[in-house]
Amino acid sequence: MTRPLSASLPVFPWDTLADVTATARAHPDGIVDLSVGTPVDPVAPVIREALSAASSAPGYPTTAGTARLRESMVAALDRRYGITGLGPDAVLPVIGTKELIAWLPTLLALGADDTVVVPELAYPTYDVGARLAGAQVVRADSLTQLGPRNPRLVFLNSPSNPTGAVLGVDHLRKVVDWARERGALVASDECYLGLSWEAEPVSVLHPSVSDGDHTGLLAVHSLSKTSSLAGYRAGFVAGDPAVVAELLAVRKHAGMMVPTPVQAAMVAALDDDAHEAEQRARYARRRDVLLRALRDAGLTVDHSEAGLYLWATRGEPCRDTLAWFAQRGILVAPGEFYGPRGDYHVRVALTATDERIDAAVARLAA
Ligand SMILES: Cc1ncc(COP(=O)(O)O)c(C=O)c1O
Repeated sequence: MTRPLSASLPVFPWDTLADVTATARAHPDGIVDLSVGTPVDPVAPVIREALSAASSAPGYPTTAGTARLRESMVAALDRRYGITGLGPDAVLPVIGTKELIAWLPTLLALGADDTVVVPELAYPTYDVGARLAGAQVVRADSLTQLGPRNPRLVFLNSPSNPTGAVLGVDHLRKVVDWARERGALVASDECYLGLSWEAEPVSVLHPSVSDGDHTGLLAVHSLSKTSSLAGYRAGFVAGDPAVVAELLAVRKHAGMMVPTPVQAAMVAALDDDAHEAEQRARYARRRDVLLRALRDAGLTVDHSEAGLYLWATRGEPCRDTLAWFAQRGILVAPGEFYGPRGDYHVRVALTATDERIDAAVARLAA
């Protein structure tokens, strides 16, 4: 038998948390799970109504999405993030952005001779996507680290999962210039762009970065966090129309279509900014109280200017910090999941109910 594809993938890291999970679960007032970034707040009625109204959908959806959805994606990127100059052929819905990220190198026909650059501390799916395509992976945050390499694809993620760091306009411009000189595609994962607290994250497509030219650029946008639609599987890519056309051409054949009711729900989510502002306010409050509680408990919180996570350290190996939290009934994620430079940090997610966040704050103060 040929080598199974799964053999080229890392161990699914969450499976290694069984012991600390059991410890945290034993807390008399129950576990506070801040380990994964899975949204917990109800989906906004305006979105649920749109899903329900579109639920009689006997026919196949199109891979490109409805004209109405493409219009909404373009309008929301303009209104929310100041991204101008996108036409309806520059956007494409995806079945959640994890799917797109995991298959992007394959869809672009990358292979063993190709290199994919991922941030040093990163959402693991960038690495997984490169491995699925059999491509090589280089972890680097600065261009000088790359030397004379000519990568085919560079992943950026600002605000970052896990660190909450935000890349400034100057940094983004440098990466874009550098990639264009080398013919590399820049895929900017902007999952957390709408969740900023102490910094102003900017899209790679914003005119201040791109000068209005989207050649070689893709922005990846998820509705999972900003609209709490992780369960719907709803995201999209936007950018270079030639790259979008190529993705569409392959995805059509592969059956990568967003279900019709979800497309209708995406329209409702993209057209309505009120529910997004409400969700953002919930996370802002949770962040405020947790940040203070972590600092009062003696932890140092690094970066964390934006996004859904606090990147904290007690100056010890992350598994020791995990145990320290678990004794208080709190589960957090070890920094080592995100790259070797995360060995001394843990990632604390803001995605728990107000009641559970307040329980964590009380336990940290005890
Ligand atoms: C940085 C980043 N990108 C992409 C995703 C995937 O989001 P989804 O597949 O729900 O759109 C996540 C999810 O946690 C993430 O943290």
